[in-house]
Amino acid sequence: MGRLVVVSNRVAIPRREDSPSAGGLAVALKEVFSQRGGLWFGWSGQVVAGEAGDAKTVKRHNVDYTVFDLNEDAYRGYYVGHSNGVLWPLFHFRLGLLTYDRSQAEVYRQVNRDFARRLMPLLKPDDTIWVHDYQLIPLGSELRALGAKQRIGYFHHIPFPPYALFSALPDADQILHDLLSYDLVGVQSRRDLQGLVDCMNQGTGMQVPVDEKIRFRGRETSLEAHAIGIATQEFAETAAKASRGSETRRLVASLTGRELVIGVERLDYTKGLPERLKAFAALLSAYPEHRGNVTYLQVAAKSRDDIESYRDLRREIDRLAGTINGDYADPDWTPVRYVARALSRDCLAGFYRVARVGLVTPLRDGMNLVAKEYVAAQDPKNPGVLVLSRFAGAAEGMPEALQVNPLDPERMAAALHTALNMPLEERRERHGAMMRRLEANTVSDWAKSFLHSLEGEKADQSSEP
Ligand code: G6P
Repeated sequence: MGRLVVVSNRVAIPRREDSPSAGGLAVALKEVFSQRGGLWFGWSGQVVAGEAGDAKTVKRHNVDYTVFDLNEDAYRGYYVGHSNGVLWPLFHFRLGLLTYDRSQAEVYRQVNRDFARRLMPLLKPDDTIWVHDYQLIPLGSELRALGAKQRIGYFHHIPFPPYALFSALPDADQILHDLLSYDLVGVQSRRDLQGLVDCMNQGTGMQVPVDEKIRFRGRETSLEAHAIGIATQEFAETAAKASRGSETRRLVASLTGRELVIGVERLDYTKGLPERLKAFAALLSAYPEHRGNVTYLQVAAKSRDDIESYRDLRREIDRLAGTINGDYADPDWTPVRYVARALSRDCLAGFYRVARVGLVTPLRDGMNLVAKEYVAAQDPKNPGVLVLSRFAGAAEGMPEALQVNPLDPERMAAALHTALNMPLEERRERHGAMMRRLEANTVSDWAKSFLHSLEGEKADQSSEP
């Protein structure tokens, strides 16, 4: 079996002392990389003035991490402009936030071409290439244009809207044709698969058959849903340990017996943060018995603050949190605790375990792993309750969560009230059912099942695109 070559926009080179349980994709790939070795290729996260230099490679165990910098124009056009100013809002159903600029769309393609040009000489004939996420959709066709014959898969980590919405993108059909350069296109959920199939049917004029394989210029592209998971047992153990650590103990002491509701995400307009704050205010207004007895901790790590809509969001959340605290606080109780920076994974795992409610209410989300981590972190003897948006991909596999529409503050408040009053027996039943599914579909299973589909049945496809 050949090497695995992973390509993602950002690549974090692990430090020697890093525990193997670092970030999401790294955990997913750990087992596969340890079995067959490989290459992880992408942007270093650094932006340089002038020309970006050559890529550099760092070896860790049997994986080569090859990264390169972006220059200022590439960063603005490819990352800030087209990836996060156009594709991100588009795929999250937010047409009003889309700021299309043809010259940035060209830089996006040019940077993808540059990824392909840099990667091509590093490839071996029996490599399997796995491309990740919306920043790199055209990479497959750029590699094919340079003659790559390897099997190439693409996984789309974010939602996929239906064509009625997707076609608002001026280059929508080009993007769909780019996807047909891959042997396998994976999305997170059945809903996203429906969106993708709808786009292919209407945008390419080709009929996708029932088995969701589409043949184009001699290449067969499979379209499949593969729900990403977490390292369930590992996370459960981390949470149990962290909950005895000093950070969680200090948090619990500061609550002085009050219940904790927790929300954790990047500060992003897809996450439904203002709507969630309004729902918490609605809880305090409609159910006064919770005043003084519940504290809501929102961790919202700063993200993409070169983009105006993210800066606007920050101001809106600051204002809302301040208003709720002004309206409801007591001298010895602050209803909303708001931390606008990232906390460590271990620290959060401990916080999840002591929170009575995990509030995960994005307006749209590919999967949302916080929902899964919150459940895995619970003490099975006395678990908390997950309140989950029906618009997160995670909702498909978590019917036992209290599912809500994040645009409906009154119903969200009612769900929070139900969660805070839920009897132990019911909490255990709901938690047990979700936990069994999380154990049966870990992040490592996800990577293996995607690669199995990519390499499995049709490894003999050799026709030119
Ligand atoms: C989401 C996207 C990823 C992205 C991450 C962080 O999870 O699906 O592709 O890497 O956000 O965003 P950033 O723009 O900081 O890389």
